Amino acid sequence: MGLAPLINCSRKNSQLMRFLCVLLWIAQTTSQTLSPDKAMNKATPEVPHLCNLDCRFDINKTHVAENCLSHGFDMIKRCCIDSTEDFSVVDVIGIDLQECNMTQEIFSTGIIGINTLQYISLEGNDLSSLNKTDFHRNTGILYLSLPKNLQCFGNQSAWGKVVYDNPTATICYNESNPCQTENVTCPDNSHCVHAGIDLIECLCDEDYHGYKCMNKGKFPVTPFAIGLSISTVFVCIFFWFTQRRYVKTSNKNK
Ligand SMILES: *[C@@H]1O[C@H](CO)[C@@H](O)[C@H](O)[C@H]1NC(C)=O
Ligand SMILES: *[C@@H]1O[C@H](CO)[C@@H](O)[C@H](O)[C@H]1NC(C)=O
Ligand SMILES: *[C@@H]1O[C@H](CO)[C@@H](O)[C@H](O)[C@H]1NC(C)=O
Ligand SMILES: *[C@@H]1O[C@H](CO)[C@@H](O)[C@H](O)[C@H]1NC(C)=O
Ligand SMILES: *[C@@H]1O[C@H](CO)[C@@H](O)[C@H](O)[C@H]1NC(C)=O
Ligand SMILES: *[C@@H]1O[C@H](CO)[C@@H](O)[C@H](O)[C@H]1NC(C)=O
Repeated sequence: MGLAPLINCSRKNSQLMRFLCVLLWIAQTTSQTLSPDKAMNKATPEVPHLCNLDCRFDINKTHVAENCLSHGFDMIKRCCIDSTEDFSVVDVIGIDLQECNMTQEIFSTGIIGINTLQYISLEGNDLSSLNKTDFHRNTGILYLSLPKNLQCFGNQSAWGKVVYDNPTATICYNESNPCQTENVTCPDNSHCVHAGIDLIECLCDEDYHGYKCMNKGKFPVTPFAIGLSISTVFVCIFFWFTQRRYVKTSNKNK
């Protein structure tokens, strides 16, 4: 499209030109995907595809929407969004997927990479096998409503409050940090970090690394440096062969 007048990639170019064409094409496609709003002149940020689903329930008056708007965030389709003015940061604060024909797989894969959720509605879906790992690294959930056949995940202490007598949903309020609510003791030289619903990790303290955080000192840079030079060698080999082939074919053409 925009590239065509610059370089005609279909012409019989040399190997190197074709390589450059591919690089330019990748660069162009990437820059278009990264700035779709500039390209389309739209005033809303790009939201995850889960936000664009068609669902039976009107979004306006739901718990997610009310909390979202009362905290000054924006509702975009089915999601509550907190974004910077230039959309360089777009955080998904809430998502309302009630009666959306949602499945465990679609939900779990759809929220990968989203770890800022505070309000989630999932009732009215067949989600009998949903479990706490499907919420990945969301550690700040304030409201989670589930189909009635599900219980709030984890120990009793995993939530500040649990409501089972709602007619349509099981509601879990205020995800708690097990590092604080349970008596977690991490091994020497490590500390407890909240990593998901009812999930903690013991991470090495600063300046410690390796098996059971037993090694003191800065993380060794030698293996990485070696890895880097190996990949450089491969790139050089690649160029050497492509250039050789070009030399050969141009010799034949003589
Ligand atoms: C959900 O699935 C049912 C049955 O397959 C279908 O009739 C309905 O239109 C679907 N609803 C949505 C919102 O996609
Ligand atoms: C409800 O949402 C629709 C679009 O989803 C909008 O047109 C309508 O004005 C909203 N109603 C209220 C009361 O906010
Ligand atoms: C949660 O569901 C995923 C996906 O189906 C599955 O791989 C995992 O084993 C389940 N975890 C638990 C604790 O049930
Ligand atoms: C939480 O659950 C784990 C395993 O399911 C159990 O060992 C632990 O005692 C429980 N803690 C509390 C406070 O119930
Ligand atoms: C959840 O936590 C907030 C802030 O600590 C508190 O104001 C609110 O009452 C809690 N909600 C419930 C249902 O316990
Ligand atoms: C927490 O665990 C430590 C060590 O296991 C123990 O000394 C302490 O009494 C425990 N505290 C509570 C409140 O259970």
